[in-house]
Amino acid sequence: DAGDGTQLRTPIVAVLGHVDHGKTSLLDEVRGSAVTAGEAGAITQHIGATAVPLSTISDIAGSLVNPDDFDLPGLLFIDTPGHHSFSTLRSRGGALADIAILVVDVNDGFQPQTHEALDILKRTQTPFIVAANKIDTIPGWNPNPDTPVQATLERQSDRAESRLNEKLYELIGELSEEGFSADMYWRVQNFRENIGVVPVSAETGEGIPDLLTVLMGLSQRYLKSEMSIDTEGPGIGTVLEVKEERGFGATIDTVLYDGTLRGDDTIVVGGKNEPIITDVRALLQPRPLAEIRTEKQFEQVDIVRAAAGVKIAAPDLDDAMAGAPVRVVRDRNLEEVVAEVRAELADIEVVTEEQGVVVKADTLGSLEAIAAALGEAEIPIVRAEVGDVAPRDVAVASTADEPKHAAILAFNVDVLDDAAREIEQGNVNLFADDVIYQLIEEYEEHVAAIED
Ligand code: GTP
Ligand code: MG
Repeated sequence: DAGDGTQLRTPIVAVLGHVDHGKTSLLDEVRGSAVTAGEAGAITQHIGATAVPLSTISDIAGSLVNPDDFDLPGLLFIDTPGHHSFSTLRSRGGALADIAILVVDVNDGFQPQTHEALDILKRTQTPFIVAANKIDTIPGWNPNPDTPVQATLERQSDRAESRLNEKLYELIGELSEEGFSADMYWRVQNFRENIGVVPVSAETGEGIPDLLTVLMGLSQRYLKSEMSIDTEGPGIGTVLEVKEERGFGATIDTVLYDGTLRGDDTIVVGGKNEPIITDVRALLQPRPLAEIRTEKQFEQVDIVRAAAGVKIAAPDLDDAMAGAPVRVVRDRNLEEVVAEVRAELADIEVVTEEQGVVVKADTLGSLEAIAAALGEAEIPIVRAEVGDVAPRDVAVASTADEPKHAAILAFNVDVLDDAAREIEQGNVNLFADDVIYQLIEEYEEHVAAIED
């Protein structure tokens, strides 16, 4: 409770960064669970949401956090696969996340998806901090499990400490090249003007107390006014993923970022063709500290309050799209809510031309990001859709007016068997990548080769 009668909502923290830089491991360390250990190839397949209550945060942060200083209920962490565009997490007019952690492997430094993540943070003006992860891999490092940064630094040899500093200053230099002024977090006075860098290890837990303290401080100080929302009104959320669930059919993993969602609500969901109007059949919540994407024992609940991750089971969700809005109707006029969902989808709609390339992407957010990048490169789009590459896409691409337009650009999606066969036999070129600018570069190189 904020003291003035308004309920504070849980801030949403997105964790992003290059593949294998340790996003899921960092969350594991916070959760005390081992999602990574259970993952196929330790690669995050799906986006997940994990609620971490204030009590857990202050347990981990120890002496660095006094729970009395905070009136936020906790933090809702959203893990994104390294290959996944953070832009899935969109709400109308911007990013869904309130703040973000950019995870960078301290030895590996900036990588393609680090740059991509920074671009999106810039575009959406999301405040963030940098977790310089894997400090335990610095040669000569003396690990001190679960210790705050300053305390572990005191116990390092001069050599290890200066090796770490060298790496940290390289990171700060990279950030500066991207237009961000950054420094070690303990030297940052104003986290709005300067990006704080927190050295951490997901392996040993070093620096995790600092990371959580900085996050709580950042949320408390800069987001409090935005967090005081109508927590009882009809809910608004975003689809993270559409998933088949035994006994339920298609379900949507959703982040509710405003209001409430009840087990007997009618909802409107953005669909591939039309907004989907459906009645909630069950609200399935992962247990506290559990990860929605690995959770097996969902608890069926009657009501969910923002911000929270929840799996919604309801009829007719097969055509729902990742990144699309979800709105509760309740005592509102149905047509009005449908119009809001339509308007929100229209905001995302990609401008297509008579001739151009076919684009397929995994979410509305990534589709939007690719379309923006193609626009800048002056590459026209004839068809843009969320979903796997299907025979219909090959058919459209094969009727192109000129060879350079006989192309499908696929971001983070599969190619259906029938479509793959047709591509093999026909004149259509397929480009697939999980980094947007690499995808466009590959296509541009192909065009340059044709035109030579
Ligand atoms: P994606 O979800 O695939 O993008 O990767 P991720 O960023 O979630 O990385 P993940 O947490 O799966 O970690 C990748 C590998 O790095 C795993 O083998 C981890 O055990 C290892 N790792 C992560 N953090 C640390 C760390 O702080 N120190 C060390 N030594 N290894 C780490
Ligand atoms: Mg991961």
